[in-house]
Amino acid sequence: MRIDIVTIFPSFFDVLDISLLGKARQSGIIELGVHDLRDHTHDRHRTVDDTPYGGGAGMVMKPEPWGEAFDELLGEQPGAAVAGADPLVIFPSPAGEVFTQATARALAHEQRLVFGCGRYEGIDQRVFDHVASRARVKLVSMGDYVLNGGEVAVMAMIEAIGRLIPGVVGNPESLVEESHENGLLEYPSYTKPASWRGLEVPPVLLSGNHGAIAAWRHEQQLERTRRVRPDLLDLGEH
Ligand code: ADE
Repeated sequence: MRIDIVTIFPSFFDVLDISLLGKARQSGIIELGVHDLRDHTHDRHRTVDDTPYGGGAGMVMKPEPWGEAFDELLGEQPGAAVAGADPLVIFPSPAGEVFTQATARALAHEQRLVFGCGRYEGIDQRVFDHVASRARVKLVSMGDYVLNGGEVAVMAMIEAIGRLIPGVVGNPESLVEESHENGLLEYPSYTKPASWRGLEVPPVLLSGNHGAIAAWRHEQQLERTRRVRPDLLDLGEH
C-alpha cells in the first residue's frame, strides 16, 4: 500500500519509522510519503490560512497550496491516473463518518491512500469539491470530540489500517481475537506468574480445558461489552 500525507507538521509522522509500521516500511509492505503543505506556498511567510468569508472566529486553510499539493499527488488533469492505483483521499474531520474497525478493514484493501491534514477552523470547501472531481474522497472522524488538527487522527488511522495489511503483524491469529473483531470487546488476558500480589489468575485458564477456556472468554467478552459498551450489543448477534 502507498500512503501519502499532506500536513503542515511533517515531523509529526517521524514516529512511523519505528515499531511494526517502521518494519512494514522497511520491508516494502507500506510505502509512505509525507509532504509539507507549506512547500506549495509562494509568499515570504509561507501562509496557509486566511480569515473566513462571512466572518466568524478562527482561520480557514487557503485553497491554493492544497490545490498544488494534490496536483502533484493526483496529477493535474481531472481523472489523471497516477502510478496505476485509484487513490482514495481521506480528510480527517469531526464532520466526517466515524472511523471504526470496519472502516479500517475496508481501507486495508486500498492500494493508495492520500491523507490531507487540516488545521485551524478547517479547509476551504472548494478543496474537497475539486479533489472529488478527480479522486474518491472521504471525510473521516475519530470520534465526537475536536482535535487541533488531523495529524493525530491520521496517525491512529494508519496504525489501525496498517496492522490489518497481511505481513505487518507477525502472527495474524492475534488479529482475530481482539476487541471489535467479533463486535465485542476483548476478554481479559493473563500471563505468568499464576499468583501476583495476592491476585490469582482465574483457575479455568490453568485447567487445560480448551472448550471451557473458550466459553469463559466469550462470557467475559459479553459481560464486559454489556457493562462498558452496551451500544455494541444492539448492532449484531452474539
Ligand atoms: N480534526 C479535528 N477533530 C477531529 C476528529 N474528531 N476526527 C478527525 N479529525 C479531526
